[in-house]
Amino acid sequence: MGTLKALKGKSSLSVITITICTLAFVTLFYTQTISSFSFRLKSCPRRNTAKKSFPDDRNGDLGALNYAADDRFEFDPEECSLVHGKWVFNRSIKPLYSDRTCRYLDRQVSCVKNGRPDSDYRHWEWQPDDCILPRFDPEIALRKLQGKRLMFVGDSLQRGQWQSFVCLIDSVIPQGQKSMKRGRLHTVFKAKEYNATIEFYWAPFLVESNSDLHIIADPKKRILKVDSVAKHAKHWIGVDILVFDTYVWWMGRLRTNSLWGSFANGDEGYHELDTTVSYNIGLKTWANWVDSNLNPNRTRVFFTTMSPLHERSADWGNANGTRCFNETKPIPKKRYWGSGSNKQMMSVVARVVKRMKFPVTLINITQLSEYRIDAHTSIYTELGGKLLTDEQKADPLHYADCVHWCLPGVPDTWNQILYAHLL
Ligand SMILES: *[C@@H]1O[C@H](CO)[C@@H](O)[C@H](O)[C@H]1NC(C)=O
Ligand SMILES: *[C@@H]1O[C@H](CO)[C@@H](O)[C@H](O)[C@H]1NC(C)=O
Ligand SMILES: *[C@@H]1O[C@H](CO)[C@@H](O)[C@H](O)[C@H]1NC(C)=O
Ligand SMILES: *[C@@H]1O[C@H](CO)[C@@H](O)[C@H](O)[C@H]1NC(C)=O
Ligand SMILES: *[C@@H]1O[C@H](CO)[C@@H](O)[C@H](O)[C@H]1NC(C)=O
Ligand SMILES: *[C@@H]1O[C@H](CO)[C@@H](O)[C@H](O)[C@H]1NC(C)=O
Repeated sequence: MGTLKALKGKSSLSVITITICTLAFVTLFYTQTISSFSFRLKSCPRRNTAKKSFPDDRNGDLGALNYAADDRFEFDPEECSLVHGKWVFNRSIKPLYSDRTCRYLDRQVSCVKNGRPDSDYRHWEWQPDDCILPRFDPEIALRKLQGKRLMFVGDSLQRGQWQSFVCLIDSVIPQGQKSMKRGRLHTVFKAKEYNATIEFYWAPFLVESNSDLHIIADPKKRILKVDSVAKHAKHWIGVDILVFDTYVWWMGRLRTNSLWGSFANGDEGYHELDTTVSYNIGLKTWANWVDSNLNPNRTRVFFTTMSPLHERSADWGNANGTRCFNETKPIPKKRYWGSGSNKQMMSVVARVVKRMKFPVTLINITQLSEYRIDAHTSIYTELGGKLLTDEQKADPLHYADCVHWCLPGVPDTWNQILYAHLL
């Protein structure tokens, strides 16, 4: 236990205050389970200096995708990195669904229904530097999934990606040919004609915790069983394509209460570890399970990297801004990286995945999502199951959600990348 004492003393993650402030949102990530929530972020600073605006180059089709004069090649996962590229505005891009046509969207992400007035955020396309990312074709996606189970596993951001996927294919499935069976941990959408399922399994840390089913609002009271994954993982067996994520729930504090082994003192026997340390152990537990239980000839495994938070408008030079509120354009600056994506946590993922026997494909969405300050649900969302009141909407400093994404929106691009890997 001596080494643990040493670990305890080590300096902790550099997580900015405002991120911590806003991580009260973490408690909302599974909104169904929360009925009331009081939200106070008194300590979050507000900046009041000059507002910078971004060059407005999105009117017209300047710089938009032009396939004819394009020497980039079709996407090939071996050849092309999707990490670097740019968002290109093209008004004639229509999302494959809306929050009115797709009835599987949660209120939490239905920004238009919730009153979001601007629409530009729905017309940007991710254009990698080196190749052309194919557009999502729902018919082809369904054919690829014929007779298969696709399961998204993780937190509410992963649930957003799952809903996006369901809605992307929903429009081509006739009424009566689909079903949705909702459970507290496990939800299954089925496309009957194709005998395909698109499933979501709730495991915000991937490993077990005392806050999985009944969310514990106070991060100090959460205990992570960093060496236990079997209770969740037994639901992952037999799935053909697994997509995992876990990040933001770890970020509520600089330290996490971590428990391993099973001792008579039960939940009392935890240690406080630096978050990167427990994240590392937790991910290794997941990795060991994948390595020893899944056969790469039968199963494909993806891991979606961290989804950035946009809490500090000063990060992107809008010192007068209020978090992500009222942003309507992506950040144009190449390789922009803000304080809402923790590089140390990212390198833990890279290291753990690299050492695995099982070939896990990373869906590296962090950089492309970093640019999209305009695409969060912001004030067009709900709190504790209720739409924000006008009073709450007028107070974006405390009530804007700069963690989750509007749908349709950025998670559609994450799925476009997943789709490209399935072709
Ligand atoms: C920024 O805020 C200051 C103080 O409230 C105000 O005087 C100024 O006009 C604002 N700048 C912009 C560009 O909105
Ligand atoms: C914009 O998107 C439309 C519809 O997908 C496409 O036909 C068009 O080529 C795009 N515009 C440019 C300039 O690439
Ligand atoms: C449907 O798919 C499941 C696997 O997802 C398979 O076990 C079952 O045999 C399939 N049924 C038919 C009728 O093809
Ligand atoms: C996967 O398939 C390859 C080639 O068919 C075979 O050599 C290998 O043993 C298989 N791996 C497992 C774990 O079944
Ligand atoms: C949102 O931004 C626009 C300009 O970008 C500004 O005119 C408007 O007043 C802002 N709204 C609020 C509520 O700050
Ligand atoms: C994802 O891409 C970024 C570059 O944008 C890189 O820094 C990071 O290491 C990558 N993440 C992983 C887990 O490989």
